[in-house]
Amino acid sequence: MRIEILADEAAVAVRAADLVCDALRAKPDALLALPTGNTPVLAYAELARRVAASEADFARASIYAIDEFADATRTTPGTNSVFYREHVRLGQRVLHCPNPSAQDPDEHIRAFADAIRRAGGIDLCVLGIGTNGHIAFNEPGSARDSRARVVALTHASREAHTATFGSLAAVPSRGMTLGVADLLEARSIVVLATGARKASIARRAIEGAQTAEVPASWLQSHADVVWVLDAAAAAELSATTQ
Ligand code: GLP
Repeated sequence: MRIEILADEAAVAVRAADLVCDALRAKPDALLALPTGNTPVLAYAELARRVAASEADFARASIYAIDEFADATRTTPGTNSVFYREHVRLGQRVLHCPNPSAQDPDEHIRAFADAIRRAGGIDLCVLGIGTNGHIAFNEPGSARDSRARVVALTHASREAHTATFGSLAAVPSRGMTLGVADLLEARSIVVLATGARKASIARRAIEGAQTAEVPASWLQSHADVVWVLDAAAAAELSATTQ
């Protein structure tokens, strides 16, 4: 894994945008799997700026979500569907997100993962990390060979979405996610982590044992992973990693 430590979240956003643009230059019709969360918002703004300035072109690119809530609708505030419509406005060819109101979410997310494979697989997967080590909605306990499935969201993950859903009670208890194995099939992976509250989990994911207790630690086994952290998120990494 490569570790890049930058001064602050603004620098992380620019670097993340650079890495996405590099992937697009190498393959203009790239299949990009992109995350939700607070962490990538500045990077999406930077990418939108580049598109407006004709410095980036997503016209042939496909964008896929990596997870979504179940038991909601495509217009429920707080869902990933709403997030992508708001933040990922890059003129991409298509943007696919699982349907939160799918009748059979388990079957739906498996079909979603199959569609990604049929489209050629993920060229670049950008990830954030939850404070409990989750990637997409692969909560602690997720095995390295886990596949796309419905998951019970942890209290911590539901609590993190209280503001966007309006109340904790409004946050669905179930999510749909690509599995760890699906994410590891991406040809390249970029992980973004910013802020002091990610420092402890970033250390465990990067330097700790590979374990289902910290699903992000499975990324250590992938051949092409770049972590892009700001100084606050990197604060607990050992001197040798830094
Ligand atoms: C969410 C998403 C993840 C995201 C993570 C971190 O629940 N399912 O894909 O990476 O939590 O979010 P944030 O960037 O807001 O810390």
